[in-house]
Amino acid sequence: MGNLECNGLTKVYEDHRKALENVTFTIETKGIFGLIGRNGAGKTTLIRILATELQPTAGTASINGFDVLKQENKLRETIAIVPQEARTIRWMTPKQTVSSYLLWRGYSYNEAKRLADESLAKFDLDQCANVLTSRLSGGTKRKVLIATVTASEADVIFLDEPTTGLDPISRHELWDILRTLGKDRFIFLTTHYLEEAEQLADKIGILKDGKLISIGTLPELRSSTRYQYSIKLPPNVHVPQLKDGELTVSASGYTQIMTNEDEAFSLAKTFAEQAVKFSIAPVTLDDIFFNLVGQKARDE
Ligand SMILES: Nc1ncnc2c1ncn2[C@@H]1O[C@H](COP(=O)(O)OP(=O)(O)OP(=O)(O)O)[C@@H](O)[C@H]1O
Ligand SMILES: [Mg+2]
Repeated sequence: MGNLECNGLTKVYEDHRKALENVTFTIETKGIFGLIGRNGAGKTTLIRILATELQPTAGTASINGFDVLKQENKLRETIAIVPQEARTIRWMTPKQTVSSYLLWRGYSYNEAKRLADESLAKFDLDQCANVLTSRLSGGTKRKVLIATVTASEADVIFLDEPTTGLDPISRHELWDILRTLGKDRFIFLTTHYLEEAEQLADKIGILKDGKLISIGTLPELRSSTRYQYSIKLPPNVHVPQLKDGELTVSASGYTQIMTNEDEAFSLAKTFAEQAVKFSIAPVTLDDIFFNLVGQKARDE
């Protein structure tokens, strides 16, 4: 175990598009790290640089002491990646997919066979181990890809949007698997599902236009944002003038107040005295994301 370090990582593509700008952070390579950001924020670019698929224009990065540029071959032995666009090969079965990946990584035939069986069982894929992947559902194909890379003994696993397109039950099943994997590996994932990052990630990074604008545990992100509490109210409730807070009214009339702890509890007292129905809670990752990344009012 060690650290993942990025120092001034910058990537400018040939068309002069700046996809990453001076990204600097250090995190421990344990548990699950979730990277979030809008389309085009630079998540895939960062993952590809860390997985040695792409060279940065400037800056350095290392994982567990291996430099992504100077020691890329050594680093590659310790990492595995499921890219955003990864697809299973339609004329291969899950068992062939996993074992051929392991052979390609240098495992012996017997080891590859054993590890493939173990991994498919872990993902509950033993039933379809010998079925052509072209016959499997999209969610099952996704599981096969993750079972494939995690069958190797790589310490660091990059998953670029692993649950996009999965139904809610499959997503929760995959979360359980990832939680288990995160106990003895480091998982670096990207997601557009904020609830997923909130539920799964020990640490979360937020990219905006190529810049890392926030990083930390959920409580750390919460305390670094201006408002720590959120109150939600049904339509047509009179809200007193806020001393320090932000009020958003959705198209359907629901009101959200984001404010500091003192004001939130004082407002809650007022609403309770008026017998108004309301909810009060610490801000969610959703609130933090919209607050930091900026977005117009959301409809309930
Ligand atoms: N090969 C490339 N050549 C030129 N520009 C690119 C290339 N790949 C990505 N970009 C640009 O770099 C920026 C960051 O893209 P990237 O794919 O890293 O974002 P992302 O956060 O992964 O987005 P998404 O959530 O849509 O997957 C975007 O403006 C994108 O258009
Ligand atoms: Mg991407």
